[in-house]
Amino acid sequence: MFKLIDLPYASLAPVISDETLSFHYGKHLQAYVDNLNKLIAGTEFEGKSLEDIVKNSTGAIFNNAGQILNHELYFTQFKTPDQVGGNGASLPAPTGNLLKQIEKQWGTLDAFMAEFEQKGTTLFGSGWVWLQTNADGELSIGQYAGADNPVAHVMPGQTGHLKPILTFDVWEHAYYLDYQNRRAAHLKELWKIVDWEVIEKRFTK
Ligand SMILES: [Fe+2]
Repeated sequence: MFKLIDLPYASLAPVISDETLSFHYGKHLQAYVDNLNKLIAGTEFEGKSLEDIVKNSTGAIFNNAGQILNHELYFTQFKTPDQVGGNGASLPAPTGNLLKQIEKQWGTLDAFMAEFEQKGTTLFGSGWVWLQTNADGELSIGQYAGADNPVAHVMPGQTGHLKPILTFDVWEHAYYLDYQNRRAAHLKELWKIVDWEVIEKRFTK
């Protein structure tokens, strides 16, 4: 049985309002958990990990498992603006090997963030924009529709599945109460609450 994860914070306001968090986490994510538990009962997927289910399923099971995995990675990568120092003029930023790799591939952190926002803004319809890495530690930005996740994908010419590092949810339920149709403005605000320590752990794991 899958359970709703605990959140590592009580609020992410004002970047994400308490109302949005309450619906997004308490209603949408809870529904994916309840749906998946019903769908996999008595099937080959019962007792499997979310990643295994996402890699091997289709249809409703894939959609609900994917959305749980996506939202778990999404909700656990944030902290309050105060905790990550993202309330003032400067944004929280990665350090160490992740920053080095970003600068190697994009030149600057700002250039990476601009492309990430642009890919999130231009993704048609509901989905997710991801920072992902391959087995060689090379980064790329992926646009995925619906419930899709990098773990379900293998880059051409490679064998291992992509690993998800950072994600912004561009389903309207993630921002519409707070930002209405201003998806780009919402994505820009999210940098204020990114917990780069979590992202770096995902990258080096
Ligand atoms: Fe969502």
